[in-house]
Amino acid sequence: MRCDRVHSFDVAKQGYVNLLHARIPAGTADTAPMVAARVDLLSSGVYLPLADALAKVASEHIEDGMVIDAGAGTGYYLAHVLDAVPAAYGLALDVSAVALRRAARAHPRAGAAVWNLWEPWPVADSSASLILNVFAPRNAPQFHRVLTEDGLLVVATPNPGHLRELGDLVISVDGSKDARLEDTLGERFTRVDRHEVTQQVALEPDRIRQVVEMGPSAHHLHRDGRRERLDAITGSVDVTTSFSVTLYRPVS
Ligand SMILES: C[S@@+](CC[C@H](N)C(=O)[O-])C[C@H]1O[C@@H](n2cnc3c(N)ncnc32)[C@H](O)[C@@H]1O
Repeated sequence: MRCDRVHSFDVAKQGYVNLLHARIPAGTADTAPMVAARVDLLSSGVYLPLADALAKVASEHIEDGMVIDAGAGTGYYLAHVLDAVPAAYGLALDVSAVALRRAARAHPRAGAAVWNLWEPWPVADSSASLILNVFAPRNAPQFHRVLTEDGLLVVATPNPGHLRELGDLVISVDGSKDARLEDTLGERFTRVDRHEVTQQVALEPDRIRQVVEMGPSAHHLHRDGRRERLDAITGSVDVTTSFSVTLYRPVS
C-alpha cells in the first residue's frame, strides 16, 4: 500500500497492514499470551451475549457502509457485527500486531491495520457508518471526525459487578466509569440509548485463568499471591459477567 506522500507499507502475509511509523510505549499493546488467552476464552462463547447484543444494535441502526472496530483485538466482535449487516465492511484498528493477525482473518469483509488510536486515524473524514469500541481506548475527536453525520458510536464497557466473584484476581471496575465515559466523549456526542448485558456462567478453572490472563490483570498476577490463588482454583466458579452497551450520535 502507498500513501500520497509515497510512503509504502507491506501487507503482512497474515493479511494485516502495519501503518505505525512510531514506537508505542511498552505495555500498550496486548501481548501474545494475552491474545492466546482471549482467543480461547472468546471461542468458548462466554462473551457471546455481548457479541449478540452488539450485532443486534448494528443491524437495527445501519444497512451498509464501513464499521470501524477501534481497539478490535482479535476481531471477534467486529465479525459478529459484520455477520449481522451483510452489506457492511469492516476495519479493525489495534496497536497489537499479534491480535491483528487474528482480526485480519476474523471476517471476509474485514481489513486490519496496526495503528495507535491516540494518533489521528488513517481513515477519511465522514467515512464510517458505525464505530465499535469494546474495552478499548476512546479518542472522541477521531470518533467524531471519521463518523458520518448520521453515524453511530457503540461503546461496550464492563459494569461494576463484572466478574466480582473473582475478587482481586481481576482489576476491579471503577464505579465512576460511566461518568468518565461521558466526560471523554464530551460535547461531541449525545447518548441515545443504553443496554445492559448481564449473565451468570459457571467457569472451569482453565476458563478462569483465561479471563484473568487475557486482560490487564495479567500484569498484576505477581502481586499479593494472586498467581498462587489462581493456580489453587480446582473447581468451577459461578461468575457474573456484566456489560453496558451505550449508543451515541455525533453532535454536528
Ligand atoms: C481489553 S482489549 C479489547 C480487545 C477487543 N475489543 C475485545 O474485546 O476482544 C484492549 C485492546 O486495545 C488495544 N489498545 C490498547 N491501547 C491502544 C492504542 N493506543 N491504540 C490501539 N489499540 C490499543 C490492545 O492492544 C487491545 O487489543
